[in-house]
Amino acid sequence: MSEIKRLDMDSELLIRQKAFAQKAKNLLAERYDHPPLAYVHTFGCQQNVSDGEKISGMLSEIGYGPADSPETADLVIYNTCAVRENAEDRVFGNVGALKPVKQKRQGMLIGLCGCMMQQQSAAEKIKQSYPYVDLVFGTHALHTLPELLYNRLSGQKRQFSIEDSPGEIIEGIPLQRDGAIKANLPVMYGCNNFCTYCIVPYVRGRERSRRPQDVLAEARQLVEMGYREITLLGQNVNSYGYTLDEQVDFSDLLREINRIDGDFILRFMTSHPKDCTHRLIDTIAACDKVCNHIHLPVQSGSNRVLGAMNRHYTVEEYLSLIGYARQAIPDVTFSSDIIVGFPGETREEFEQTVELVKRVRYTTLYTFIYSPRTGTKAASMDDPIPEAEKSRWLRELLDIQSAIREEQQDHYIGRTLRVLADGVGRSGAGWLSGRTVSNDIVEFQGPPEMIGSFVEVKIERALNWALFGK
Ligand code: 5AD
Ligand code: SF4
Repeated sequence: MSEIKRLDMDSELLIRQKAFAQKAKNLLAERYDHPPLAYVHTFGCQQNVSDGEKISGMLSEIGYGPADSPETADLVIYNTCAVRENAEDRVFGNVGALKPVKQKRQGMLIGLCGCMMQQQSAAEKIKQSYPYVDLVFGTHALHTLPELLYNRLSGQKRQFSIEDSPGEIIEGIPLQRDGAIKANLPVMYGCNNFCTYCIVPYVRGRERSRRPQDVLAEARQLVEMGYREITLLGQNVNSYGYTLDEQVDFSDLLREINRIDGDFILRFMTSHPKDCTHRLIDTIAACDKVCNHIHLPVQSGSNRVLGAMNRHYTVEEYLSLIGYARQAIPDVTFSSDIIVGFPGETREEFEQTVELVKRVRYTTLYTFIYSPRTGTKAASMDDPIPEAEKSRWLRELLDIQSAIREEQQDHYIGRTLRVLADGVGRSGAGWLSGRTVSNDIVEFQGPPEMIGSFVEVKIERALNWALFGK
């Protein structure tokens, strides 16, 4: 579908931003006798982390070095999340704490961007109540950071860029990745699913896929640079390709990337169960580099609640998918997101979720108490269950999951697992840390040179936060 606007590196728009980056750089060179420092902090999901890497990339092009804390920074950028209220509260708290910091640091600038700023109400609150914030830009204006920054640096008024948009695909924004071992690789942006609780489709625009050749070129580059783990990102990777003119789906993309020569593993998130096909599961089974772990958020174990959430699958369909994956992919593991206390959810319906969790036995469960988001359908549904009751349900679910987890971990003792060593361990000198294909943390002893390689570790004991081995 070609109505999606696609802009490449050589487009006028990006050339314009490059020119602003250069002008900002010149201005900063006149103003400071040292390289200016920027502190970028991202809240929320991997997609946001990926946007944060673009922010760092653009800032690096402008000449900013990285600051360790807001106190030592000449520019602070908070890349915000809107998915739940507590994520938003944290942002307001952090921005509030910047006021005295800015008073002490002459010329310091503060910018806010990301999903929360794409909402009119949040941006308005910043405008009215946080007059010391200099830049506010939403997800659709990310690439215009050089221009907004230049305008403010050159003495123009506070910059707000929060226009709504169906979204574009912009290739070629400079990028500075957070790590050297694991990389995020967005394959698509936006979401069309409109789950009734979720704000994402409103703040990230319509679903749109990157061209396979662009994704492949970036994947090849990552492998050449020595990255050992690539995570393909999208709100719903299973609908990859729906918006492209060419006939290509997520399975095709996985197979292509799997074919790249090199010692690396492939992950992907998030998979919507409604679009997860047997073909995709067969592809995971057939591709040696694709991890045999699937993040498949179920959200609820009640068919009535799933309907009210607009999820488009039943518990039976979900379990049948899990069953198919279990027989097709050796040792496959699953993780999931669960919302507790969706409007109108009853105790019985919550217990159905518990039943499902006990049946599937996820390795990791990301659990959330429902948080009403203004503008979504669920926000206007009746919600009679008190918060304290929802918190008790959540606790109950977490306890059940902990018990499942403990049993799973005991099961690993004596087994040898393949681990990607990704950093120093928390257990003291000489310990390294790594992750298994199911994303379990493993601590083991080894020299620092081992970081960045795949290691076979024989598991000897388990604590709730990690496995330990040799
Ligand atoms: N309240 C609570 N949890 C939510 N999520 C998304 N929106 C909300 C909300 N309004 C959770 C879902 C989703 C995960 C990323 O965040 O479980 O899968
Ligand atoms: Fe939100 Fe549903 Fe889209 Fe995920 S699939 S981003 S939960 S609307």
